[in-house]
Amino acid sequence: MRHLINPMDLSTEEVNNILALAKKIMANPEKYAHVCEGKKLATLFYEPSTRTRLSFEAAMLNLGGKTLGFHSADSSSASKGESVADTIRIINCYADIVAMRHPKEGAPLVASKYSRIPVINAGDGGHMHPTQTLTDLLTMSELNGRLENLTIGFCGDLKFGRTVHSLINAMVRYPGVKFVLISPEELKIPAYLREETLDAKGIPYKEVSNLEAVMPELDVLYMTRVQKERFFNEEDYIRLKDTFILDKKKLENAKQDMYILHPLPRVNEIAVEVDDDPRAAYFRQAQFGVYARMALIITLLGLADKEV
Ligand code: NCD
Repeated sequence: MRHLINPMDLSTEEVNNILALAKKIMANPEKYAHVCEGKKLATLFYEPSTRTRLSFEAAMLNLGGKTLGFHSADSSSASKGESVADTIRIINCYADIVAMRHPKEGAPLVASKYSRIPVINAGDGGHMHPTQTLTDLLTMSELNGRLENLTIGFCGDLKFGRTVHSLINAMVRYPGVKFVLISPEELKIPAYLREETLDAKGIPYKEVSNLEAVMPELDVLYMTRVQKERFFNEEDYIRLKDTFILDKKKLENAKQDMYILHPLPRVNEIAVEVDDDPRAAYFRQAQFGVYARMALIITLLGLADKEV
């Protein structure tokens, strides 16, 4: 029985198998329309979400399964003081697999310790977001055509952005990857990631504060929102929120085959005028998220060999 808490819980081979399955599903969705018949996915969301929760639900429905869950802590017994450990014990009686989002780092890990059914981390605080990572890997694999030898620019809130932490963790396994980390001084990646992942593995990276200067180097530009909900004081948020705004002008020196990714939601960091640039891939990325989650659900339920 497997959980997915950190992208590193999956071996490179397992990740590649999930991506390959996602591509098979994409090419032939009707073949998978009944694979999860009789199975239930519970979505336990203690924090707001649009794409992650609804794409999980769409994924399970597309597979012929059913869904149940709650979409805010207020509407669950967490508001009465119930612990994650107790809640997950109960959900084990109602569902076959769980996707959990929580504002506290480590909450899905705690849940997994008490669970007999697979627990998927759907985002834990400023820590990790492994299913966004699978989505991002699928997007790059489809659009860039490879995961090796990519120079990826991460821009925005690299301190609190869990999608960034998660994707860096997953990408260091692919040869020839380089990172350009573009952020204001206050929003640089956390020290643990720099030391334990980048420095320890000898991964080439640089930390800069000017997006335009590095634009020509990038194969992927991964934009992020400044994570308002993780700031301790509003003044800092207001000062930093519009540090980077990607517009058509800033893209002038970008490669023609560079793709712009963003986990969404977007606030101001990508001007709407960029949306019709052929390199803008963020809406396609959200669509890939359904296929990545379908492949993951099938895999964690042990149904990967079953086509109906
Ligand atoms: C991201 C998240 O929740 O971390 N959203 C998502 O899942 N697509 C990014 C964000 O909220 O900025």
